[in-house]
Amino acid sequence: MKTIGVVGAGAMGSGIAQVAAQNGHQVVLSDTSTDVLDKSKIKLAKIMARLVEKGKLDNASAEAIQGRIKYTTELNDFAPCGLIIEAIIERLDIKKQVFETLEGVVAEDCVLASNTSSLSIAAIAASVKLSHRVLGIHFFNPAPLMPLVEIIPAVQTDPEVLASSKALIDSWKKVTVIAKDTPGFIVNRVARPFYGEALRIYEEGFADFATIDWAMRDMGGFRMGPFQLMDFIGNDVNYAVTESVFAAFYYDPRYKPSFTQKRHFEAGWYGRKSGRGYYEYAEGAVQPEPTKDKELGEMILWRILVMLINEAADALHLNIASKEDIDLAMTKGVNYPKGLLAWADEKGINHCVETLDGLYHEYHEDRYRCSPILRKMAREGKKFLS
Ligand SMILES: NC(=O)c1ccc[n+]([C@@H]2O[C@H](COP(=O)([O-])OP(=O)(O)OC[C@H]3O[C@@H](n4cnc5c(N)ncnc54)[C@H](O)[C@@H]3O)[C@@H](O)[C@H]2O)c1
Repeated sequence: MKTIGVVGAGAMGSGIAQVAAQNGHQVVLSDTSTDVLDKSKIKLAKIMARLVEKGKLDNASAEAIQGRIKYTTELNDFAPCGLIIEAIIERLDIKKQVFETLEGVVAEDCVLASNTSSLSIAAIAASVKLSHRVLGIHFFNPAPLMPLVEIIPAVQTDPEVLASSKALIDSWKKVTVIAKDTPGFIVNRVARPFYGEALRIYEEGFADFATIDWAMRDMGGFRMGPFQLMDFIGNDVNYAVTESVFAAFYYDPRYKPSFTQKRHFEAGWYGRKSGRGYYEYAEGAVQPEPTKDKELGEMILWRILVMLINEAADALHLNIASKEDIDLAMTKGVNYPKGLLAWADEKGINHCVETLDGLYHEYHEDRYRCSPILRKMAREGKKFLS
């Protein structure tokens, strides 16, 4: 069984190391900070104790899992690894340095992967001599609990490396999808309107945060409303992703960030972690009541949903992933109640096109342009999944 290396013992690296160790691999987990390594070790011990308490693991297995992880600050310890997943700070220059150093340490057949959310895998792969062995393996947070893993071949990646890496992650009982090396891959691209269109509806004064959240949650079946979710993720993190996706798409107006979110970010209103975001989180804070107007709720839900459907359709149009993988990514990576393409079929492709064209006609803004694939399907009376 391959030894798995994980570089970076932060939120993602610790979770990925746990997943690999739980699947029987010897794991080498590194960080530049010994403090971070200590914290990671303590956190894993707590998680294991909880699993034992709940009867999901016996003591011996919990100890064996912890015993399989070697904590280190030395990249030289990665020499025996067959796969290394890098999960350090989201900076291309630093990631490139790490990959270059790793290549000097490992065997020629060791696969090198990055867990990056937003950087180009081709650019990372270019930092090593044998770039055919590099690919993206993108876990979601928290890695041990979220089933989805996006696998991203770079233009340089050897198809064998892609196939064997996918098979390995599948054997960890994860749901893998293959995505093209483009900004946001599948999930972080297709999900943009969940936030962007909700913010736009608020800015136009149609409804307040609580009402928009109520519509998406209670009428749409989403686990959290967009504002609740942004407060949960953190407006600092979510705003940074929005800006980086916007820039990475050469400033396509469809991904334009919102001033409402920018101001919340600038004010330090990050959400739960700062005690205030779109909502207040201080003890005893009274939460605003939504306006439970069914007609308004339906308008909000459909406008955000049709924008999500358009984004999913356009990802298919541009061959970012297969239709099955696009729907799997959204249900398994961000817990959407239904796949967006299946949802489009259910609502009717014609209805989607008419709504988008109506919005485009009203606003004359490029963000509302209908994907050519939806228009073509409507013309031909086709559905996505049947
Ligand atoms: N947090 C998420 O929700 C999430 C989800 C998917 C992917 N990602 C991606 O995963 C990566 C890590 O994110 P995170 O949230 O775990 O970050 P984090 O800040 O929690 O952890 C990063 C760790 O990397 C360490 N580090 C920095 N430079 C290093 C180096 N040269 N060598 C070894 N360790 C180094 C830091 O000390 C830190 O402990 C990023 O690329 C991020 O885009 C994050």
